Amino acid sequence: MDIQHKKVSESYTIMSEIVLPNDTNTLSNLMGGRLMHWMDIAAVIVAQKHSNKPCVTVSVDNVNFHNPIRLGNVITIEGKVTRTFNSSMEIYLSVWGQDLIKQEKYLSNEAYFNFVALDSLGKPTQIPGIIPETDKEKEMYEDALRRRQLRLLLAGKLKLEDEVALKSILFPENK
Ligand SMILES: CC(C)(COP(=O)(O)OP(=O)(O)OC[C@H]1O[C@@H](n2cnc3c(N)ncnc32)[C@H](O)[C@@H]1OP(=O)(O)O)[C@@H](O)C(=O)NCCC(=O)NCCS
Repeated sequence: MDIQHKKVSESYTIMSEIVLPNDTNTLSNLMGGRLMHWMDIAAVIVAQKHSNKPCVTVSVDNVNFHNPIRLGNVITIEGKVTRTFNSSMEIYLSVWGQDLIKQEKYLSNEAYFNFVALDSLGKPTQIPGIIPETDKEKEMYEDALRRRQLRLLLAGKLKLEDEVALKSILFPENK
């Protein structure tokens, strides 16, 4: 069955939260675990907007904590699909902190979340393809294939011939 492709902009999502005392550590900064929870929610909204199926997180990679987010600041999470495969998709999230009083905005986190769409039996199911439009979307689309190969290699999920080919690129000295 041919499933129609969708644009990146169709599932683009922005989610904001204000950091309250119960969200912080003893330094009055947002706790990493709380942030990951919010990021997972933003990412599943993107995934389900794109696929119109229930989606589950299958892996998270490249989480980078650049700057702490202070108590009382606002966080804004922006999420977009970078590339889809068969049942899975990679979603890029950027997290911005904002001090509304000082009128400062800063990049706090970035991460790639990977989701799988499920059918009514809970099995992975085909999702629509993605249409990258801007130069940045096209660049992220191209790079996503390399990231997928690497993460599947690390997860021990590549087909043997693909694993051999990728290892020969990554570790040419072991040929
Ligand atoms: C996600 C899940 C349904 C995949 O089932 P599975 O039997 O491993 O399915 P497959 O091996 O056929 O993989 C399905 C897709 O996931 C991808 N995948 C598998 N492991 C992956 C990983 N570590 N990272 C990224 N993608 C992965 C596969 O490449 C495949 O993608 P494709 O269909 O686009 O080619 C299953 O592992 C699961 O239910 N996991 C628990 C999910 C969950 O509960 N998450 C929330 C709590 S943390």
